[in-house]
Amino acid sequence: MKQFIKALPKVELHLHIEGTLEPELMFELAQRNGVEIPFQSCDEIRAAYNFHNLQSFLDIYYQGADVLIHEQDFFDLTWAYLLRCQQDNVLHTEIFFDPQTHTDRGISFDTAINGIHRALEQAKLELGISSKLIMCFLRHLDETSAFETLRQALPHKDKIIGVGLDSSELGHPPQKFERVFQRAIEHGFITVAHAGEEGPASNIQDSLELLKITRIDHGVRCTEDRALVEQLVENRTPLTVCPLSNIKLKVFDEMGQHNIVELMRQGLCVTINSDDPAYFGGYMNDNFLAVAGAHPMSETEIAQFTLNAIEASFIGEDEKARLNRITREYLANNA
Ligand code: ADE
Ligand code: ZN
Repeated sequence: MKQFIKALPKVELHLHIEGTLEPELMFELAQRNGVEIPFQSCDEIRAAYNFHNLQSFLDIYYQGADVLIHEQDFFDLTWAYLLRCQQDNVLHTEIFFDPQTHTDRGISFDTAINGIHRALEQAKLELGISSKLIMCFLRHLDETSAFETLRQALPHKDKIIGVGLDSSELGHPPQKFERVFQRAIEHGFITVAHAGEEGPASNIQDSLELLKITRIDHGVRCTEDRALVEQLVENRTPLTVCPLSNIKLKVFDEMGQHNIVELMRQGLCVTINSDDPAYFGGYMNDNFLAVAGAHPMSETEIAQFTLNAIEASFIGEDEKARLNRITREYLANNA
């Protein structure tokens, strides 16, 4: 089963590029850029990754991003993640970045996006990995800041497929961003949002109705509303679930209690993703292995997560058909 998972073709749909900053690169960039960080070693950094909820993680995660200064830093960060995609047989990835984490420190929108985009282009050519880029608004910041971020994104429309919503869910409901999402849609962006991670199921419903999202990031608390679950099954609304993240941030106490497999078996379009792999202890293969380790599944069920992710992705129909073919062939030859 381990070998089956490792070589299974994969598609990732929920990945914060700032969350792929491994301690080794954090150290290297801190030295290269003369940025002080409150750690003496990589072991010390890893020891600090002991979270009790989303906010305790976010505090450390935003601090870590301080070492990203130049376009080359954003390139190096993204390229390191793409090499991990290659190792885990991720064929397509849809990546979030948080512009405000950088613009609020005086790093320009252009610096961040140009570095990330260059790495994505190179990965297409050299690694055969395709990608889409989604920019997220930080929900703990205000609407004015989100509108300003949208304005800065407009010259880069060709590089960004959609807008998302992340950061502290509690106390910052979807309603706060209804107008800016409306404007983003008018500009042609697809919309997604983190909802039902730490917040209630009503955040999922409100994100669908007010923000017109086509995909729910996390969404695991949908089970608190039976009618909502039925609606998600009926519409095949995708959920980008992040199993190791949910354990690290104590959304579930242990993997055996995670509802991802139950949701898949109920017919929801659930997918497996790594969220912030440098902080949560694993990339795509680790997430698949952790789920399968705690929930015995057939090879067909495991491959269903990839088929769901292809269905839920923002690629064209021809490319979806090609990835489907590759995945079904792999299943036929290896199950
Ligand atoms: N930003 C990075 N990871 C996040 C998560 N899991 N939830 C909300 N915001 C995030
Ligand atoms: Zn996330």
